[in-house]
Formats: sequence, structure tokens, C-alpha cells
Amino acid sequence: MTDTASPPRNANIKWGAALELELAFMDDTHQEFIDLLVKTQTANDEDLVDCFDAMVQHTIEHFGAEDRWMRDTQFSSGNCHTLQHNVVLQVMQEGLRRGRDHSDLDLLREMAKELGIWFPQHAQSMDAALALHLRRVAYDQATGEVRNPDELPKSQIHGCGGSSCS
Ligand SMILES: [Fe+2]
Ligand SMILES: [Fe+2]
Repeated sequence: MTDTASPPRNANIKWGAALELELAFMDDTHQEFIDLLVKTQTANDEDLVDCFDAMVQHTIEHFGAEDRWMRDTQFSSGNCHTLQHNVVLQVMQEGLRRGRDHSDLDLLREMAKELGIWFPQHAQSMDAALALHLRRVAYDQATGEVRNPDELPKSQIHGCGGSSCS
């Protein structure tokens, strides 16, 4: 059912070349995430909680996959990229709980807007560094195999592997 009383809502993010990381399996996931985020940002009140919920469920898979790829390729479990995933997911899950249990739709709209600002920064820094690393070590995400193990660092990576991080 359409919400004719509400003004049209605009999204503050869209998929584009600036977000491509030249790693198909990561780009595909990011495109799906943006689709769900845009649906959430433009949802009417009736659909907002369900759209936000779908985005949270996708994010559990999205972050979980990247965390696994990092574990498979010499990142420490406490690396800063994984820690950022944990914090963002916790905030999203708390938002979903308040949206569902307390009908706090304003909070969900504010969080969806903030995610549209946060995601490009995350993709272009931490995810970009991870994509570069995975390409360098020739990581196969389907099997977890590292085909170029000589490119793995000798010691564990505690930062995000990018120049913005140790
Ligand atoms: Fe990502
Ligand atoms: Fe990430």
C-alpha cells in the first residue's frame, strides 16, 4: 500500500564507479547492500522496519564474509576493520530493535541516512585495502584457498591493511 500522505523520500547513495573495488564478489555484495539501503531510505512508514530488517540481515552476511576472508589471509581477529564491522552492526541491530519494539521510525530514518554517509568512506578505505590484499594473495572466496601464499605477510595484520591504518 502506498503512503500518499508522505512526501517522496530521496536516497543519499547510489551504486557507481567510485565504489567499485575491482573484486567481483565484493562488488556484488556492496551493490546488494546499496540496493537495500536505498529501499530503506525511500520506504514509506509502513514498510520501513521490514526494509531495515532486510538490510541488517544482509549486513550480517556481508560483514561476516569479509571477516572470514580476513581470517583466511593473515589478519588478526581483533583487526580494526573487523572491529568497525562489529560496532556498526551492533548499532544497526539496536536501531532495529527500537524501531520494531518502540516504533521509533525517526531513528531508523536517521540511521539509514548516516549509513549512506558512512558506507562510501568504509568501502573506499577499509574495503579497498582488503580488496587489494585479496587480489595480491589471489584469494579464492569459494574455497578459502590462498593461491599466492608467498604474498601473505609474515606476521598478523592488526590494522586494516591500508595506508590510513597501521
Ligand atoms: Fe564491505
Ligand atoms: Fe568492510
